[in-house]
Amino acid sequence: MRYAIRPMRLEDVPQATEIDQQCFPTQWPPPPYKRDLLSNRRVHYLVACEEQNHAAPIKEAEQRGSLLDHLLGGVRRFFYAEEASPSGQRIVGLIGFRLMAGEAHITTIGVRQAYRRQGIGELLLISAIDLALMRHAQVMTLEVRLSNSAAQALYEKYGFAENGVRRGYYTDNREDGVIMATDTLTSAPFQSQFQRLKRAHAERWWPALCQIARSIE
Ligand SMILES: CC(C)(COP(=O)(O)OP(=O)(O)OC[C@H]1O[C@@H](n2cnc3c(N)ncnc32)[C@H](O)[C@@H]1OP(=O)(O)O)[C@@H](O)C(=O)NCCC(=O)NCCS
Repeated sequence: MRYAIRPMRLEDVPQATEIDQQCFPTQWPPPPYKRDLLSNRRVHYLVACEEQNHAAPIKEAEQRGSLLDHLLGGVRRFFYAEEASPSGQRIVGLIGFRLMAGEAHITTIGVRQAYRRQGIGELLLISAIDLALMRHAQVMTLEVRLSNSAAQALYEKYGFAENGVRRGYYTDNREDGVIMATDTLTSAPFQSQFQRLKRAHAERWWPALCQIARSIE
């Protein structure tokens, strides 16, 4: 199964809320997805959905010239999925960030339990970083629970480093929130690590497609 990333749409809100409840059962209310989609231009949500048709993106990418670029570049996936995805798809994960004064602050990321450890969280983060770059963000930031080692490992992998602690930040159990931030997104060290990780992610999760891409290029 391959997964496509595309912007969240209004019809995705019930599934997004379901994922949110599964990922954050003690946090209520869920993010105001509908209100944000309708009226908050600063907030961006992306979803990962099951992609049934593998042939179409390959054909489209061949027409555009570089399949490998297509596979590794999240941006084109947004457009492909936006144009061609049928409605009624299963949404398996989501990510959201708020963009303000050059800072893209991740407000949520979650993957359905049954779909974890398959690279989807990473794909969502890669796509959000790509989108933040497109929107000229300079850094990405977030808060994560002190006890959430899985999420922290994901963020650290992508260059987020601890930048402080908000004591008792989470209202359900007064747990501390660790503030994490990236280096400047356009800096050479961040970009070289990010491009390497994108490539490694594609090679790991779509080896067959990468092989086809290499043989075409
Ligand atoms: C955090 C979360 C989004 C990760 O999604 P995922 O699809 O399972 O993650 P991936 O398979 O893409 O893993 C990518 C990296 O994340 C880290 N990671 C993910 N799950 C992990 C786990 N259970 N233990 C340790 N590291 C983990 C690893 O660094 C992994 O890279 P690796 O495969 O090279 O080890 C998912 O666990 C989730 O939805 N959790 C509940 C919601 C949540 O806590 N969100 C974060 C709020 S701040």
